[in-house]
Amino acid sequence: MAPRKIIIDTDPGQDDAVAILLALASPEDVTVLGVTAVAGNVPLPLTQKNARIVCELAGKPATKVFAGCDAPLQRKLITAEHVHGKTGLDGPPMDDPTMPLQEQHGVDFIIDTLRAEPADTVTLCPLGPLTNIASAFQKAPDIVDKVQEIVLMGGGYFEQGNITPSAEFNIYVDPEAADIVMRCGRPITIMPLDVTHHALATRPRVDAFRAMGTRVGDMVAAWTDFFERFDKEKYGSEGAPLHDPTVIAYLIKPELFEGRHINVQIETQSELTLGATVADWWRVTDHAANATFMRQVDADGFFALLAERLARL
Ligand code: BDR
Ligand code: CA
Repeated sequence: MAPRKIIIDTDPGQDDAVAILLALASPEDVTVLGVTAVAGNVPLPLTQKNARIVCELAGKPATKVFAGCDAPLQRKLITAEHVHGKTGLDGPPMDDPTMPLQEQHGVDFIIDTLRAEPADTVTLCPLGPLTNIASAFQKAPDIVDKVQEIVLMGGGYFEQGNITPSAEFNIYVDPEAADIVMRCGRPITIMPLDVTHHALATRPRVDAFRAMGTRVGDMVAAWTDFFERFDKEKYGSEGAPLHDPTVIAYLIKPELFEGRHINVQIETQSELTLGATVADWWRVTDHAANATFMRQVDADGFFALLAERLARL
């Protein structure tokens, strides 16, 4: 099968970084048309810079990186330095990137790409708040029908929230954008906390990255170590959840994941449960299914895939 054409929409973030590396290491499965940065884990000037740092680390400085929206559609930006550090990519110090930032706005890149490519051939991979994707859909409604699929990391149903008791960070930061995306009518696959809280970077898995003996292996090990300090305190878990790479892993090996095709809606009104992903897992309503909501991951298979692919870089 020809590699799937993707746009990675991201707010790096150490786990975003690993997702980008996985995609760039897998040209037989995915062609990265571009990387669009969005404000999220840290403000936009840092996420766009971090995206370029990661492309250079992968040895792919020709990758096109765009800066998109610097704030949610209607709300003030909430960031997550408490998880990812001041730079968003805290861990070992990294040099500033030398590859250029594209001049075009990320939203316009998404629009132009979907208009230029044949319908049903471009998959959007949002790994952060959904501001860029929703902005593109609002600005150019004609592109919506051309999207092949949206595979995103966000939300949680059984695991509920990680930024509030009922909301996951990516959805909480821009719930109105998430709502627009959930209603778009195109195929959507969601990797919620229910999946990613089982994709834990345990000690042996982190050691496997380090044992690669490459710069990429060392960096990935150091990044996962870095945000483990926070997750351990928070969850007392055996390792940090590696959220965003599940999106790319799904494109490469969908058989690693299991879920249900159900109705998923976003809470945009209630102060208490803002950004909750209300997933009709038990099919108790007759609301039409609009997304495949994953619940299970073969975590060993997922980490084996990561180790195999990252070792190529
Ligand atoms: C999501 O929020 C961010 O902190 C991570 O990069 C991931 O995309 C997990 O809730
Ligand atoms: Ca992210």
